[in-house]
Amino acid sequence: MNKIVVEGGVPISGEITVQGAKNAVLPILAATVLTDSCSIIHNCPRLRDVEKTVQILTDLGCNIKRCGGDIEVDASGMKDCGIDERLMREMRSSIIFLGAILSRCGAAEVGMPGGCPIGLRPIDLHLKALRKMGASICEDHGYLKCECSRLKGCSIHLDFPSVGATENVMLAAVRADGETHITNAAREPEIIDLAGFLNKMGARIRGAGSSMVTIEGVPLLHGAEYAVMPDRIVAETYLIAAMMTGGELVLRAAVPSHMQAVISALAEMGGRIEKSHSGLCIKCHRRPGSIHIIKTMPYPGFPTDAQSPFMALASIADGTSVFVENIFENRFRHVDELVRMGADIKVEGRSAVVRGVRSLCGANVCAEELRGGAALVLAAMAAEGRTEITGTEFIDRGYEDIEGTLSRCGIKIKRVIN
Ligand code: EPZ
Repeated sequence: MNKIVVEGGVPISGEITVQGAKNAVLPILAATVLTDSCSIIHNCPRLRDVEKTVQILTDLGCNIKRCGGDIEVDASGMKDCGIDERLMREMRSSIIFLGAILSRCGAAEVGMPGGCPIGLRPIDLHLKALRKMGASICEDHGYLKCECSRLKGCSIHLDFPSVGATENVMLAAVRADGETHITNAAREPEIIDLAGFLNKMGARIRGAGSSMVTIEGVPLLHGAEYAVMPDRIVAETYLIAAMMTGGELVLRAAVPSHMQAVISALAEMGGRIEKSHSGLCIKCHRRPGSIHIIKTMPYPGFPTDAQSPFMALASIADGTSVFVENIFENRFRHVDELVRMGADIKVEGRSAVVRGVRSLCGANVCAEELRGGAALVLAAMAAEGRTEITGTEFIDRGYEDIEGTLSRCGIKIKRVIN
């Protein structure tokens, strides 16, 4: 069984160039099937989820060329409109292909999506919106069989500002008949990035990043070249690493305006964060103070994806912090493992009370989902002694070469392949 091994107690020090955003590159790669010409996507992170998405594109009949962080997709040979159930189960974002395939082919047959076990992950908002646009969708034996000769633009109100549902509607609407208005749309930066790529393909999208997005359908789209935004959650994770190890870090390519909620909370806990010509700098040479309460919210509120890394920080802070997880119903899976390392955390429903301890102790722990796994790596860096982390496949879904990145900043971390 593969594991990541960390000898804790070393302050992080150095520079990190933040990888391309997982949650932006996945819908952008799905969008490449909307045209029968070539697109080139730059700054693609080397992640398991990107590999799985490329596998889906290949199975659909697209021709893929990869060179470092660049992925070229030629969708002219796309011959299939179905995605194997096994591949769909590999990750949540596979559902994003539904709108794109429906728009390109007029039909789609995909398995129900998988993803991290952080909650039920329903897709009712996706299906309700696509049905309103004219798609007939039959749910049969774990498959979604969809047909629609021509999607029609309409007004779509999302009961919740779902990131995936907003993206699916955008992908379905760009070539639909007429105009689509999405109200209560998700406002995450990844939505803006997807709209940026689609508009370079010839789409007509206005208002991305606000709660009202308008998409004017066009008959055809063409290939485009686009560079994916930096990953704000990975950047936030490494800022937290500096706070936890009492170190100094410069993040290149990070976009502070994408991370205001987390930067504000880190400053409240004693972090000194400044933007310089070389990037975003953070220093924290004293024990962080606690934070009264963290409530996860849709963007621009505190991101649910930063909740578990931030809880690792709170577990060694001076005082008590409270967390309320409002987005996913099962996103405290990291708590038991942090407690195994000496953290003092009590969970009650969607709330967790974290009483900071002077220090954590190394232990054998297991990652059960992506961001919880990152939290365990952070805790291991701050802990006394050795920590062994299994479940590395979850961490590799979102963090590119995490052990290489951190060891280049002085952390004693390695991956053991068994
Ligand atoms: C995206 O997931 C991200 N994943 C998640 O990041 C992120 O945590 C989440 O947005 C919220 O920001 C990708 O972009 C690939 P949602 P998504 O639809 O689209 C409910 C990570 O660690 N909901 O905004 O699945 C849902 O149950 C991952 O990188 C419905 O009820 O999130 C949840 O409670 C984890 N019905 C809430 O909305 C629906 O049809 C937010 O989900 C859709 C969603």
